Amino acid sequence: MPVRRARSIVCYWHDNAFVAENYRTRTTVSLEPLGAELLNELGEWIEEEKAAARFPDFDPESVLQSLAELEAAGLVVREGDPGADGDEAAGTAWPEWNVSARYLHAMTKDAPYTEDTPELRARMASETERPALFKSYPDADTILLPRAPRRLDTPFEDVLYGRRTHRAFADRDVPLADFSALLAAVFGPAAFIDADAYGGLMQRTSASAGARQETEAYVLVRRVTDVAPGVYHYNVLTHALEFLTECPPWQDVARLSVNQRGIEDAAFAVVLTSLTERLRSKYRTARTYRIMLMDAGHFAQTFAMVATALGLGPFQTAAFTDSAVEGLLGLDGVEETALYLLGAGVPAEGPEGTEGLKRPAGLEAFRRSRPGPAPAARPTLSPG
Ligand SMILES: Cc1cc2nc3c(=O)[nH]c(=O)nc-3n(C[C@H](O)[C@H](O)[C@H](O)COP(=O)(O)O)c2cc1C
Repeated sequence: MPVRRARSIVCYWHDNAFVAENYRTRTTVSLEPLGAELLNELGEWIEEEKAAARFPDFDPESVLQSLAELEAAGLVVREGDPGADGDEAAGTAWPEWNVSARYLHAMTKDAPYTEDTPELRARMASETERPALFKSYPDADTILLPRAPRRLDTPFEDVLYGRRTHRAFADRDVPLADFSALLAAVFGPAAFIDADAYGGLMQRTSASAGARQETEAYVLVRRVTDVAPGVYHYNVLTHALEFLTECPPWQDVARLSVNQRGIEDAAFAVVLTSLTERLRSKYRTARTYRIMLMDAGHFAQTFAMVATALGLGPFQTAAFTDSAVEGLLGLDGVEETALYLLGAGVPAEGPEGTEGLKRPAGLEAFRRSRPGPAPAARPTLSPG
């Protein structure tokens, strides 16, 4: 039966060896140049002998032998073999998202669970392996935020069903008390737990994998009462804003978010970042990348809920130019990377604001979106 190159292959150099990885079968092998050239010739189904004939300078037997080795390593599939169908699907799925998404998805699946072993505990107990719980900018000018409690006593149902993504805001400052309460409730500590070998760990109002709390918050202030516009880091430990730099003109901030309407008029924006070391020090599989994104999502939802409870309008977007945002915050984008852009403000009055953000869907709208499966053809009734 003819053979071809597996579709789900990614190649790269690792420790100076050129390796090919089949992300469907999860096999990785180092390749000699001839192996790579051979794979290059196997884009479509071809008889092995014909493939060998494409290398006239080599003994055909040696080429066939290399081919057999590539097949054994999962880099070559044979027509009719059970794996061949799965390979086609794994190598061509999600064409809109390209090989990067397929590779990331496959390679972060089915990872081994991080067992709580004595080795892990010993590692986590070691001073050098344990990242600091809090990030701070000790030399920065600081605004200590007020701690007067702001009761979050809006009925839970009102918050749950009242949360909406806002894109229009009133031309008004957000009161400092609300701003401060929002940051404290979303990003401040809620409790500290004794986690044995892992030490004292913080818990917040959002879930965080292994209580690693890798998510940091940076605030771009535009109009908050008594807070000068600027770019700040939120210091979780001291409930303070640490001044990093002047805020660019707000049109430029909006441009960082490809002019999303929500950010254009927001009173302030919050960039969620991940300090990856806090996760990497404990979790050592690529699946942790997914966990990092999940954690950011939890904070975004809590932010939206707390903002709603305070009568503010929340907004969140994944549409921002990561590198420009990281540049503004002075982050390297690797050790600490920007993941999510949030914003809030006083909701605009009237149909653009809290009420009537979108018209409720009626018959016409549902006709356009077809909530169920395609309707069966109606029988034509002929008279008589
Ligand atoms: C991950 C994520 C990314 C989003 N990105 C954008 C965006 O780029 N632009 C935008 O206008 N809204 C964005 N939104 C808001 C959604 O469009 C909004 O949540 C959706 O329309 C549902 O409305 P609701 O949040 O009021 O329930 C995003 C929401 C999420 C969860």
